[in-house]
Amino acid sequence: MLPPVLYWNNDQLYILDQRALPGEVLYLECSSAEDVAVAIETLAVRGAPAIGIAAAYGVVLASRGGRKSALAASMRLGRTRPTAVNLFWALRRMEEKMESFLDRTLYKDLMKEANTIYADDLACNMAMGRAGAALLPEKCTVLTHCNAGALATVGHGTALGVIRSAREAGKDVKVFACETRPLLQGARLTVWELMQDGFDVTLLCDSMAGSLLKKGVIDAVIVGADRIAANGDTANKIGTYSLAVLAKHHGVPFYVAAPVSTIDPALPSGDDIPIEERRPEEILRLPGGGMLPDEYAVWNPAFDVTESGLITAIITEMGVLQPPYGPAVSACLERRRFEWSIV
Ligand code: MRU
Repeated sequence: MLPPVLYWNNDQLYILDQRALPGEVLYLECSSAEDVAVAIETLAVRGAPAIGIAAAYGVVLASRGGRKSALAASMRLGRTRPTAVNLFWALRRMEEKMESFLDRTLYKDLMKEANTIYADDLACNMAMGRAGAALLPEKCTVLTHCNAGALATVGHGTALGVIRSAREAGKDVKVFACETRPLLQGARLTVWELMQDGFDVTLLCDSMAGSLLKKGVIDAVIVGADRIAANGDTANKIGTYSLAVLAKHHGVPFYVAAPVSTIDPALPSGDDIPIEERRPEEILRLPGGGMLPDEYAVWNPAFDVTESGLITAIITEMGVLQPPYGPAVSACLERRRFEWSIV
């Protein structure tokens, strides 16, 4: 059984500290929006959907100080990480509620909205899982990168949700997981998460993916996403682009699984997606302890962009989007707007 990524208890938000995994299951006690912002910045909580949900509860914590404090918290939380659009999507939802609610019910009403965002994420992942599972053969081996699992969401996961749903549908799925340098989300989180659920999972270094694909043992590559532009270009953990190029070269389907909230229709292409650059120490710190010389020049982008031409399909809770992605994305968003207008 996986521990919850976050939970609310006694007027505080508890966040699973993913930096301690797989060694220890520890929770950070967050009593302010600032605590939540720091948890997001330091990757205690990470993964596009999970940071949006954590931020929504950060706004709830701040709303005890009134509307001004909630709005200031939303702005602070919006400065934590620039790439995952789910963060801004969740904060916008919270801010819209702030405009419409009375001061005396602000806390209760924002809590209700945060709980809805939480519940929607789980429902989306289940729907996405079902849609994506249909794409996988009855017996297959898939390659994944970073952690787009239950630990990056509030349950089931996006890319790993597809794998879970495929198994629930009776398919025999084996997984290879790239370690995901520099912070090892694949090694520390994906392998651990899948082992907790009894999957057959094998770890490899990022640089080994080409040889693995060349052997012909991989039936599909499945990854998550942090932001998808209107033309389908997709930002995800650094290293995803190389996998997409390799998959194309070896004729292996390359799938992106993400909720519709990861689509940013305001950006025409992936060139416009802001890419977070993180501190050099994340690369200079050696896995076994010790540091490389700090005068080393380091380039440490946390994400890269895979152009849509390398993506076989984008799996969402609204179904599977196929190329050409421009029209597929706008039709999907139009359908979503229509569904919301009749709710
Ligand atoms: O830096 P991280 O660990 O937040 O990066 C996470 C990823 O890149 C995931 O693949 C992405 O957020 C999708 S999670 C469902």
